[in-house]
Amino acid sequence: MLDALWQRRALLVSGKGGVGKTTLAAALARAAVASGKRVLLAEVEVSSDEQDGPSPLATLVGAREPGPRVTEVSPGLSFVRLSPIEGQRLFLQEVLPLRMMAEAALRMRALRRFLEAAPALREMGVLYQMLHLIRRTRPDGSPLYPLTLLDLPATGHALALAALPDALLSVMPGGPIGRSVREGMGLLRDPALTGALLVTLPEPLPVSETLELATAIQRHRIPLAAGVLNRVPENPFSPDGRAAVEKLLDAHGPHRGQRALGRLDRARAAEARLAGNLPAPLFTVPDLPATGMQLVEQLAQHLLLRPAPHAPSRERAGAQS
Ligand SMILES: Nc1ncnc2c1ncn2[C@@H]1O[C@H](COP(=O)(O)OP(=O)(O)OP(=O)(O)O)[C@@H](O)[C@H]1O
Ligand SMILES: [Mg+2]
Repeated sequence: MLDALWQRRALLVSGKGGVGKTTLAAALARAAVASGKRVLLAEVEVSSDEQDGPSPLATLVGAREPGPRVTEVSPGLSFVRLSPIEGQRLFLQEVLPLRMMAEAALRMRALRRFLEAAPALREMGVLYQMLHLIRRTRPDGSPLYPLTLLDLPATGHALALAALPDALLSVMPGGPIGRSVREGMGLLRDPALTGALLVTLPEPLPVSETLELATAIQRHRIPLAAGVLNRVPENPFSPDGRAAVEKLLDAHGPHRGQRALGRLDRARAAEARLAGNLPAPLFTVPDLPATGMQLVEQLAQHLLLRPAPHAPSRERAGAQS
């Protein structure tokens, strides 16, 4: 079933802060490489004024020089930090006739400040650099990076990216800008080529927010590739064992064990709710007692060994097509 994800050209990993986007983007990239895919793992530069601090994603995969140039981390895995400025430079280069003009235009401070001030133009730069990389080919014409995995910084970014094509087309429908926006839109909106991966946690509020995000993303016609329910607690109980433990806890009044049981119940409810309402396959990922690269490696193994997701809810899936 993971194969269905790997068939796409771009996967946008999105979700609320701290749910595990970066960890899962790294684990998915490792799993895809282990399945024989060539992967470009990408993140978005946070600010262009000063140098970004250390990149958590780069650290998790052992990328030493995170920057706007693609570097190979290990066989089959490349890393890039998408930069609005780099994207805008590429964009001007293709739109303006001469490379010199593009460089000169970017050197003009006023223009540069203008490009940085408009959030949509920041997003455009990021999107444009990503499209540029996706379009790159090898000498035989096959894609240089068949699969790009993009770790998006926060929910808002996914929506800003999604809303961007319409916003740009409304101000400049024709000419070279309109043309390249339309090309980007074709890729972003084609469910065979692109999909959002929504990461969430097994608690009521994150699940509600994720269902809202799924609706918003689809309103912008970005296809949903999958939901990922992260940090699901291991359930150590058989039904009989659970009944016995509950009886014991009841007899002893409030107890820490009850909190753990409550967490298990909420996780089960979250899974059922997402499986029933998300119009995409749902992967569940365990909460593991590891951190950093070790966690990434273990999650990649988990994804490779236990890939069978919940099928999407039938009515929703039907309604979508
Ligand atoms: N399946 C898991 N098991 C155990 N710990 C996890 C798991 N997934 C993520 N974590 C931990 O949760 C924390 C947040 O993860 P991560 O940084 O990947 O989230 P994020 O969504 O990228 O956060 P941000 O929104 O800040 O970018 C990290 O400490 C990470 O090690
Ligand atoms: Mg992150």
